[in-house]
Amino acid sequence: MKIGIIGTGYVGLVTGVCLGKVLNNDIVCIDKVEEKINLLNNKQCPIFEPGLTKLLNSSDGGNIRFTTNYNELLDRDLIFLCVGTPQNDNGSTNYDYLISCMNDLADVIEPGTSTYIVIKSTAPVGSADILKSFIANKLESDRGLILGKDLNIHISSNPEFLKEGSAVEDFLNPSRIVIGTDDSESKNRLLKLYETYSDKCFCTDVKSAQLIKYASNAFLATKISFVNSLITYCEENNINLHDVTYGMGLDPRIGSSFLTPGPGYGGSCFPKDVASLSFEMEESAENYPDNCILKAVDTINEQAKMWPVYKIIDEFYDTDICLLKPIKVCVLGCAFKAYTDDVRCSSTITLIEQLFILNKNVQVSVYDPLANDNLASYFSDRNYNIEYTDNVYTAAENADVTVLMTPWPEFLALNYSKIKCFMSGNVFIDTRAMLNYDVMNSLFKYYALGKPQKN
Ligand code: UGA
Repeated sequence: MKIGIIGTGYVGLVTGVCLGKVLNNDIVCIDKVEEKINLLNNKQCPIFEPGLTKLLNSSDGGNIRFTTNYNELLDRDLIFLCVGTPQNDNGSTNYDYLISCMNDLADVIEPGTSTYIVIKSTAPVGSADILKSFIANKLESDRGLILGKDLNIHISSNPEFLKEGSAVEDFLNPSRIVIGTDDSESKNRLLKLYETYSDKCFCTDVKSAQLIKYASNAFLATKISFVNSLITYCEENNINLHDVTYGMGLDPRIGSSFLTPGPGYGGSCFPKDVASLSFEMEESAENYPDNCILKAVDTINEQAKMWPVYKIIDEFYDTDICLLKPIKVCVLGCAFKAYTDDVRCSSTITLIEQLFILNKNVQVSVYDPLANDNLASYFSDRNYNIEYTDNVYTAAENADVTVLMTPWPEFLALNYSKIKCFMSGNVFIDTRAMLNYDVMNSLFKYYALGKPQKN
């Protein structure tokens, strides 16, 4: 099929490359940012996603073109909207990028045609109607074209369930493909596109499809926050929370996934989607019963992010001067999870911001296998004393405390005796409780989130 993709971020690029190279379709990817398009036309990926560059450069599968020109969308069987839907200050979803796509489409679509638009971006219930009325108004006011008479536009929803770091893998092995349509031709086209995975397709209406996406992310976030809500209780009662979640997960009704306690969930999806669903639920009806679950999920997440900060305060707060001592903190990992270079809403950001609030004279050294540059650019306008290094042992030099933040598998293989020799202090905080408990306790004053403290 001829497929158009608008937006070449994580969602658009993975979708475009996989629909082209795995499912053999002819793809046109559009982005407004020319540098990105140039990079992609030179077969380079602007994002890190395992397996993506290889697929992009594969000679197998369908053709993929990258362009800034919306006219190239005119012959497409389906046009996917894959642009960002960031969070407004009040938690609601910002539609600016979606509206901008409709604006540009309205300039090029031709009378006498039917255009099949699919929202892949995570967008709230009701957004399809908003986009449709926007484009209808624009077509009428700019070009005198009446929707439904001079031309047709159908908007459907096909949310994505790809995880960063395993997005290609997830595309190849989908748990489900949700097809939300309000017209039969959109449904037929989407079913044809995904015929390889026909047993995984679930068809419903547009609004239900959109809510499936939000409810899924919010539910996974709820599982994480539920477990994180037990951290302090387990600490106070000397209970290993990891044993508790293991035991819970043995019940297939509960399942073992997304029960790992940690320093809060991050990334570009869970925090924003929990906030958006929470906002929409409260907006949708006056006197809506207090939306306590999603609010609690968010509050617990913010508390979980503070766990390493409180451990540092316990160890290094100077009560005489009411400030944190001017320590050096070595931070291992700043990506919000392993196998990505994404630092959006990463707990490492909270940790570093809090350290500099507690004493502007602290020193921080950061090592991450992929995400250092993104963290450096996030903090580029702050006057923080942060050293970014591509060597763990350099990062540990003269550190009073080392904090492991991102669960990169390579951290399992580090030489912690050597790290200790480089450090000037002996406190190690493992927010993922991923290191050998006995070895680490023999070397350091070791705090492992969710595990009882030994010394
Ligand atoms: C999430 C969903 O898992 C995808 O299904 C969805 O498509 C995607 O959002 C999206 O909406 O685009 P992602 O944000 O890439 O994917 O990351 P996850 O692997 O879900 O992890 C999110 C956060 O939860 C991370 O900070 C991770 O460390 C944390 N987490 C995860 C835990 O703290 N404990 C767990 O047991 C699992």
